[in-house]
Amino acid sequence: MLTPSEITKRKRQNPIAMITAYDACFARIAEAAGIDMILVGDSAANVMLGYSTTREIHMEDMLLLTAAVRRGAPNTHVVADMPWQSDCDVQTALQNARRFIEVGANSVKLEGSRLDVVRALRQESISVVGHLGLLPQTATNFKQRGQSTEEAEKIYDDALALEDAGIFALVLEHIPERLGALISQGLRGIPTIGIGAGQQVDGQVLVLHDALGMHPFPLPPFARKFADLYEQGVAGLRRYIEVTRNSAEKNSYSALARDTSN
Ligand code: KIV
Repeated sequence: MLTPSEITKRKRQNPIAMITAYDACFARIAEAAGIDMILVGDSAANVMLGYSTTREIHMEDMLLLTAAVRRGAPNTHVVADMPWQSDCDVQTALQNARRFIEVGANSVKLEGSRLDVVRALRQESISVVGHLGLLPQTATNFKQRGQSTEEAEKIYDDALALEDAGIFALVLEHIPERLGALISQGLRGIPTIGIGAGQQVDGQVLVLHDALGMHPFPLPPFARKFADLYEQGVAGLRRYIEVTRNSAEKNSYSALARDTSN
């Protein structure tokens, strides 16, 4: 299992592959594939629970999912996403982060430039991943962030401040490739992990259900599909239904035949 300092050393050396997972079954698959890090993302609200925003998932749900992922992937670094309002102040964040560590997370991720929270977590030796760019917990639209000079500078400055506060990796979501590259160069010692931040970052993260094609919905512009489990699942279950109905039909014919021969 990669430790935060091993992950940090991968910067500019060996790109990091991170994927989300939310249960033991898919965490096992991710570990078997050799993934570097699993993120128990609050995207579970959308892809697992069917909500339209990530604000609908709560600590108790995330703890259940994190514990399941740990059971399925005992040897992979697991990052637990702090859900909406679970880090609303320093004390609440500390309590909730400790609960994630107790159920098996190796680190926690939080959205935005929460320097006071990051410093407090680091004081308790809790490892933290930052997240800048598009921040789904507070977003009112899903447009690319950092297109204006002002917004790009803010994201860049926040990234440097988060590194100083003690995060060991930074997720960059839906920003221009050039900004992703600048931040990746500007951060002295921690890797950037992009989702829609271009190729000049230190690693990539995808939502598992997008990557494995587990739903029929359009993908975000930056996501990529590496399998089509939704189509395969529907086809497999259609086959099962057909076999079940055919064998039920055959059984009823043979029962009828038995009845009439008596
Ligand atoms: O919740 C999530 O899946 C995430 C990724 C998009 C990085 O935060």
